[in-house]
Amino acid sequence: MLCFLCLEIVCLCNSDGSICRELERKALVDFKQGLEDPNGLLSSWIGLDCCSWTGVGCDNHTGHIVRIDLHNFILGGEIRPSVLVLNHLRYMDLSGNSFEDNRIPAFLGSLVSLQYLNLSYAGFSGYVPHQLGNLARLHYLDLSSNSLHVIGSHWLTNLSSLQYLNLDGVNHSKATNVLKVLNTLPLISEIHLHGCELHIPLSLGAHINFTNLRFLDLAHNYINSTIPLWLFQLSGLEYLDLSHNNFQDLIPHAIGKLTSLKVLNLRNNGDLQYNKVPSIRLPPTLGELCNLSILTLSDNNYIPSDLNGLGEIFSGCIKNSLEELYWSGANLTGQLPIWLANLKSLKTLDLSFNSLYGSFIQFQLPSMQELSLGENQLNGTIPKYLGQLFPKLVKLDLSYNNLAGILTEAHFDNLTKLESLDMNSNAFELILRPEWVPPLELKYLDMSDCKLGPKISIMASKVEEHFLSFNVKYKHY
Ligand SMILES: *[C@@H]1O[C@H](CO)[C@@H](O)[C@H](O)[C@H]1NC(C)=O
Ligand SMILES: *[C@@H]1O[C@H](CO)[C@@H](O)[C@H](O)[C@H]1NC(C)=O
Ligand SMILES: *[C@@H]1O[C@H](CO)[C@@H](O)[C@H](O)[C@H]1NC(C)=O
Ligand SMILES: *[C@@H]1O[C@H](CO)[C@@H](O)[C@H](O)[C@H]1NC(C)=O
Ligand SMILES: *[C@@H]1O[C@H](CO)[C@@H](O)[C@H](O)[C@H]1NC(C)=O
Ligand SMILES: *[C@@H]1O[C@H](CO)[C@@H](O)[C@H](O)[C@H]1NC(C)=O
Ligand SMILES: *[C@@H]1O[C@H](CO)[C@@H](O)[C@H](O)[C@H]1NC(C)=O
Ligand SMILES: *[C@@H]1O[C@H](CO)[C@@H](O)[C@H](O)[C@H]1NC(C)=O
Ligand SMILES: *[C@@H]1O[C@H](CO)[C@@H](O)[C@H](O)[C@H]1NC(C)=O
Ligand SMILES: *[C@@H]1O[C@H](CO)[C@@H](O)[C@H](O)[C@H]1NC(C)=O
Repeated sequence: MLCFLCLEIVCLCNSDGSICRELERKALVDFKQGLEDPNGLLSSWIGLDCCSWTGVGCDNHTGHIVRIDLHNFILGGEIRPSVLVLNHLRYMDLSGNSFEDNRIPAFLGSLVSLQYLNLSYAGFSGYVPHQLGNLARLHYLDLSSNSLHVIGSHWLTNLSSLQYLNLDGVNHSKATNVLKVLNTLPLISEIHLHGCELHIPLSLGAHINFTNLRFLDLAHNYINSTIPLWLFQLSGLEYLDLSHNNFQDLIPHAIGKLTSLKVLNLRNNGDLQYNKVPSIRLPPTLGELCNLSILTLSDNNYIPSDLNGLGEIFSGCIKNSLEELYWSGANLTGQLPIWLANLKSLKTLDLSFNSLYGSFIQFQLPSMQELSLGENQLNGTIPKYLGQLFPKLVKLDLSYNNLAGILTEAHFDNLTKLESLDMNSNAFELILRPEWVPPLELKYLDMSDCKLGPKISIMASKVEEHFLSFNVKYKHY
């Protein structure tokens, strides 16, 4: 018994008390020799105690290396097969390195204990080795932002533990069924397929599984079909990005089924047809998405263009949770709609680059932080005490409108959080006392083309001086 204990201790501890296993230490030394380490970030990889080396983690009980995290080490060179000795490795992060023009080694598919593999931003090119499909315990796989291709998607079939997959930028032009295969993975909850030249199937077969899917990014794929109806059966979906595609009939009624949705991005569905602005109509069911927090509709031509008919769509919920609404470049016309007043949670509103006319917002938007109304045809004056309408305002863009009237200090009173103010190209007249102290947080101010009041020279130089001390880009008339 005593003898056995002795053996156990001898086995687990080196003479210096470290628990690093000799075989694994040697493997790491060889692994390091294959790498180029221009910044010397692996210089701690000497001595016996490999568990204390930078980026290396051991299991405290067994002494096995279970973790290698070398992200952003800017390493180059070659990944040697010696790493296979580390057969207890659960976590490997080689992201943010520059294995320029190397392939992903197929033997990584033999590290069968891996639960986390991150090879993003690592300079890999060529084909994704299908051997990675042997990593049946993998929960996270991130191969994004390399120059990779896949041939087929069958290799994903056995990744039955996979919860997170990021293949952003991996060329799928030779793989037609990635979504069909992913539909068979029982735990998958987050899928990134941004910029993949993806084919999206109109049918997934008899069963739409995807029971855990919360996040789906299909942006930048030149997809020109209709939105497949199976998408609207993913009732657990919280994040859906279909932006920068060319979907026809952009928003069907069925969108109302996605009741868990928090983020919906439909920006710019016209990549292939540069000359034709794609158009959308909003179905009333959009208003049933009461959990929606971020909605992006920019760069799609909206029919029927006047926002004032939309009241119901944005008031269908007892508590409206919309925080960010992006709807620029959409040929919107009409006056700023009164239903905006119902959006009490709205923090960001971007309606720039439209043809909205009439007067500025006259009601309070208590959560508003970033308000962009630039490049419209708003006219009339802006109310005094903006600080009462928008007590939390950080950024205000009114540039390129037809707004006019005299602006005094009162307009800026209590805008204590204001950092950026763009009033360029309107017809404002500015009357500020020479000793006016602008809001403290102001970092950007553009008042070019504003008429400045009588005490212009004193005021301008004072203000400029003040702004310069806050590093403000101040342009004056
Ligand atoms: C090993 O123990 C240290 C200190 O107790 C702890 O910080 C570390 O997370 C443990 N490592 C593992 C892999 O459990
Ligand atoms: C992978 O690494 C990149 C860069 O270091 C990081 O941004 C990303 O979040 C990581 N992916 C996962 C799934 O942790
Ligand atoms: C998945 O695993 C099964 C059983 O281990 C094996 O027969 C099959 O070839 C694997 N499929 C792929 C695509 O690797
Ligand atoms: C993707 O791959 C196809 C064929 O392999 C190729 O024609 C296409 O140019 C690639 N796309 C990009 C963005 O490299
Ligand atoms: C859906 O999941 C069930 C059970 O996990 C499985 O039997 C079935 O093949 C899956 N359907 C598809 C289309 O993959
Ligand atoms: C989609 O694009 C492909 C290739 O550019 C083309 O062959 C196909 O006709 C297009 N489909 C539609 C519905 O426009
Ligand atoms: C909003 O999400 C919660 C879960 O986060 C869910 O229970 C609720 O049903 C959703 N609301 C609607 C209107 O679907
Ligand atoms: C913008 O909407 C108006 C109707 O309000 C329409 O006449 C015009 O053609 C639209 N512009 C574009 C570029 O579609
Ligand atoms: C604003 O413009 C509209 C039409 O574009 C015009 O009818 C109205 O009189 C203008 N209001 C002001 C205050 O100039
Ligand atoms: C600014 O805030 C102070 C203190 O909260 C308040 O007394 C004052 O009335 C406000 N001024 C304006 C113009 O809203």
